[in-house]
Amino acid sequence: MLFQDYKFSQKLFSNKKVLEVGCNQGMTTLQISKFSKSVIAIDNNKNHLSIAKKKRKKKNIKYIKINFFDKKKMLRLGKFEVIYLREIFNFLKIEEKKKIVKILKKNLKQNGKIIVTDFYASVFLRKKFLNFFKLKIVNLFQIDKKSRLYHFRDKNELEKFFNKFNMNISIFQKDPLKEHIDLLSKIIENIYPCKFTVILSLK
Ligand SMILES: C[S@@+](CC[C@H](N)C(=O)[O-])C[C@H]1O[C@@H](n2cnc3c(N)ncnc32)[C@H](O)[C@@H]1O
Repeated sequence: MLFQDYKFSQKLFSNKKVLEVGCNQGMTTLQISKFSKSVIAIDNNKNHLSIAKKKRKKKNIKYIKINFFDKKKMLRLGKFEVIYLREIFNFLKIEEKKKIVKILKKNLKQNGKIIVTDFYASVFLRKKFLNFFKLKIVNLFQIDKKSRLYHFRDKNELEKFFNKFNMNISIFQKDPLKEHIDLLSKIIENIYPCKFTVILSLK
């Protein structure tokens, strides 16, 4: 598949029991399920989940409605080999990011991994490129100040944040699940990468 780092995705999810946090309408869930043993996909939006259940149904996927900040319900899900969050971190405040990592650590098997894929703050420049190409000229001058607060600027900032959890950290400049992204975004992301994937494991 064009621009798809198949080996990277395979390495992350192959034969694993996965918890996907914030699965939306199941587009990323379906991609994970191609590699993994099973996926429990959670979201707190019932409309998204009902679309996922209709359109992206598979034997090894189970969709569940849960608020990921609900500690008790999260604990009841059990333990996983991989816990994956894609495009969740960018809309959480720093305190909420800490809270969710602490909750998810309790859902992690001893040799498991928490994997976070998200945007660096440089995504805002990419958005401007995209708006330019799509001739959305008005949007070029809009500044998303609120979101900017919650995006990490670079690898150093990421390391500083994740070092608080006393876990092993590796950082990649890749997004393992891109099948559902439109071609123009893929091309621009290839020229001007602005995403990271952090892999955390217990020490
Ligand atoms: C930007 S989407 C991420 C979609 C998907 N992971 C992807 O990469 O395409 C964020 C999702 O998180 C869900 N969400 C937000 N807050 C949540 C919460 N507290 N508990 C569970 N899901 C939540 C939203 O309903 C939404 O579907």
